[in-house]
Amino acid sequence: MSKIMVLNGPNLNLLGSREPEQYGHETLADVEAMCAVEAQRYGHEVECRQSNHEGVLIDAIHEAGQRIKAGEMLGVVFNPGAYTHTSVALHDAIKGAEVPVIEVHISNVHTREAFRHHSYISPVAAGIVVGMGIQGYVLGIQGLIHKTR
Ligand code: DQA
Repeated sequence: MSKIMVLNGPNLNLLGSREPEQYGHETLADVEAMCAVEAQRYGHEVECRQSNHEGVLIDAIHEAGQRIKAGEMLGVVFNPGAYTHTSVALHDAIKGAEVPVIEVHISNVHTREAFRHHSYISPVAAGIVVGMGIQGYVLGIQGLIHKTR
């Protein structure tokens, strides 16, 4: 059974208490449980990771790349948090490791501050889900399965 990595970047460990008007009241554990249920509907398992550190996220993308090549993993549903708007290194990791990534943002970044309008991840993403709340992760899982079928 191939796995799906659900990867969350900086500050997403604070879901539930962080700016609830922007990100809702559900916790990261709630999000991960939803993802597990959705993946299971399609016969997949999720592997959930969260880190506040760019290098750890890069290592996770590299690992996903190896496991995809080994046929153990489908791809990554990834909310890179603020690194979306700053990280050339994550862009390069996704491209270099040839990982199908669905980029997810809980909020609609395009209605927010101008610095959130640009993403270094979007040009190397297989798909993007923006502004759908935490349901975006479920849509991301569906999209990844659809894209990699
Ligand atoms: C976010 C949007 C980013 O701009 C922000 O830095 C986050 C969360 C979202 O899910 O809406 O941390 O990725």
